[in-house]
Amino acid sequence: MQIKPLIMGNQSVENNVFLAPMAGYTDFAFRTVALKLGYGLTFTELVSAKGLVYKGQGSVDLLKSDNKNKTSVQLFGSQPEFIKAACESEELKDFKFVDINMGCPVPKVFKNGEGSALLTDIIKAEKVVKAAVSSGKTISVKIRTGQKYGDDVATEFTKMAENSGASLVTIHARVREAYYSGEPDYNAVEKAKKAVKIPVIANGGIKSVKDANLMIDKTGADGVMLARGAIENPLLVCEILGKKSPLTLKEFIFSQLDLLSTQEGEERSAVLFRKFISYYLKGLAGIKEFKLKLCTATNVQEIKDILSNIF
Ligand SMILES: Cc1cc2nc3c(=O)[nH]c(=O)nc-3n(C[C@H](O)[C@H](O)[C@H](O)COP(=O)(O)O)c2cc1C
Repeated sequence: MQIKPLIMGNQSVENNVFLAPMAGYTDFAFRTVALKLGYGLTFTELVSAKGLVYKGQGSVDLLKSDNKNKTSVQLFGSQPEFIKAACESEELKDFKFVDINMGCPVPKVFKNGEGSALLTDIIKAEKVVKAAVSSGKTISVKIRTGQKYGDDVATEFTKMAENSGASLVTIHARVREAYYSGEPDYNAVEKAKKAVKIPVIANGGIKSVKDANLMIDKTGADGVMLARGAIENPLLVCEILGKKSPLTLKEFIFSQLDLLSTQEGEERSAVLFRKFISYYLKGLAGIKEFKLKLCTATNVQEIKDILSNIF
């Protein structure tokens, strides 16, 4: 794929390879180290607009960021007044980019009419986007292609986002029913891309340079967003950008652990790190015993010692 800068409204980003928002994964530590690898833009985990307005500590903590110019805050919510107030809040003062979540399939979010539920109500979704845009932030929207297999609302929602003042749309090329599995719907992304002038980023199933190239070839999208592929192989972004990684995988993980422990403390970090273990060790043979030790380690130094036996 061609690596190029993107214009988003009156802002620009250095390149068109983005790191996806992933709840529980793209926290401060992961994003900070990932940005050293060269992503054009990263996203916080989804943050409740209401939670921010009421200054909930859990919501505020998710905003922690070392590089606010390259971090977009992803908000979820369905009430335009809360979306606007969150965008205008003191906590978001130094962020330029805000992303609106219209893709989350999780029942807790969906039942409240938020996340992917907004894809069933374009009038409400439009009000949400317009409210965000009225705050003066540079707004992007992340959608799916619909609710059920066979749906395709990507074009109408991408057009709506553009007409409402959004500067970019990311399409997770799957329907809600598919959750996170199955082939991306290239056709839906291609149609949506052709219908608008703002940049369209394609997301879903990109785990290699070949996948990224295929996604761009098939859709004509302006860029790609890496999600699980970026956790399985944090250095994938450099392969796609066509540059040598400034970090080895071991250095990436150690930096992540160091940052995590400054934020969360040694013991809690060991627990939080567990969910990354299977991703990082995927495909490595003969490491069952190490994996078990990593999952029961109680502090960061212990994890580093075990990892030093693997890498
Ligand atoms: C554990 C996990 C957490 C996620 N959290 C979010 C989120 O907070 N906001 C969001 O828009 N998408 C979220 N997603 C969706 C991803 O951003 C991405 O759209 C999806 O995983 C498809 O890309 P992939 O096939 O390359 O993984 C999450 C996905 C996973 C697997």
